[in-house]
Amino acid sequence: MTAHDPVTPGPDAPRGAAAPAPTEPDPVAPGPARVFSAAERQSLYDIIASRRDVRNEFRPDPIDPAVLRRVLEAAHAAPSVGFMQPWNFILIRDPKRRAQVHAAFAAANAEAADMFESERQQRYRALKLEGILNAPLNICVTCDRTRGGKVVIGRTHQREMDLYSTVCAVQNLWLAARAEGIGVGWVSIFRPADLAAILHIPPHVEIVAYLCVGHVDSLFEQPELALRGWRQRLDLDALILEEEWA
Ligand SMILES: Cc1cc2nc3c(=O)[nH]c(=O)nc-3n(C[C@H](O)[C@H](O)[C@H](O)COP(=O)(O)O)c2cc1C
Repeated sequence: MTAHDPVTPGPDAPRGAAAPAPTEPDPVAPGPARVFSAAERQSLYDIIASRRDVRNEFRPDPIDPAVLRRVLEAAHAAPSVGFMQPWNFILIRDPKRRAQVHAAFAAANAEAADMFESERQQRYRALKLEGILNAPLNICVTCDRTRGGKVVIGRTHQREMDLYSTVCAVQNLWLAARAEGIGVGWVSIFRPADLAAILHIPPHVEIVAYLCVGHVDSLFEQPELALRGWRQRLDLDALILEEEWA
């Protein structure tokens, strides 16, 4: 492979899938792009708009394995740098292990609370910021930073692209879960080393997300942090720039 030959498969290309020489017809061709109806489109926008971070509203009943499988398939369909698919999904149901995770959260949350000034600190302490014990399922989404070998397409100059890819999987999971009537809450108030020890995660694997997952009957219509006056949604128009940062 030379630096000027973008079609020759690299070291992480699937075996037996050699790209054709430039003069040969390409045996790999796209099919027609499916066009979605207005109702189908609207469903997707509705799912996006009604997705919430869930802390309190979980039902205790377990998730049907077939439904969980669909949600995980959606996560696994996410885009990833060089098709690296660096993710794993650790399914955590054991109440004892979840109690350990909750203790790790509580320690980190106490440290976090101390970082806010007086009145803000009181309001922070009043927020419930996790559903580790009341959700029937927790999912730790990790990123194996070594998957795909030393050289991965698209990751040569920006190593963190594998982490971003894993976040794409989390978002797919979150939206698919919403479509299935399942709520998801992302908990990031941990020292990663505490979580890694509890879940026996090896050093080359990074924790990207710790998710609380379960069926929900009720959801806030707006972000709970906004409804509780912590922070409001920004004006989209103020976030769109034309051509350059100005
Ligand atoms: C990377 C990430 C980490 C988050 N960590 C937490 C957390 O530790 N605790 C919590 O209550 N919510 C957490 N959230 C949820 C956000 O607070 C929530 O997405 C935001 O307030 C908007 O609300 P919504 O998701 O309901 O629209 C996290 C969200 C993201 C994307």
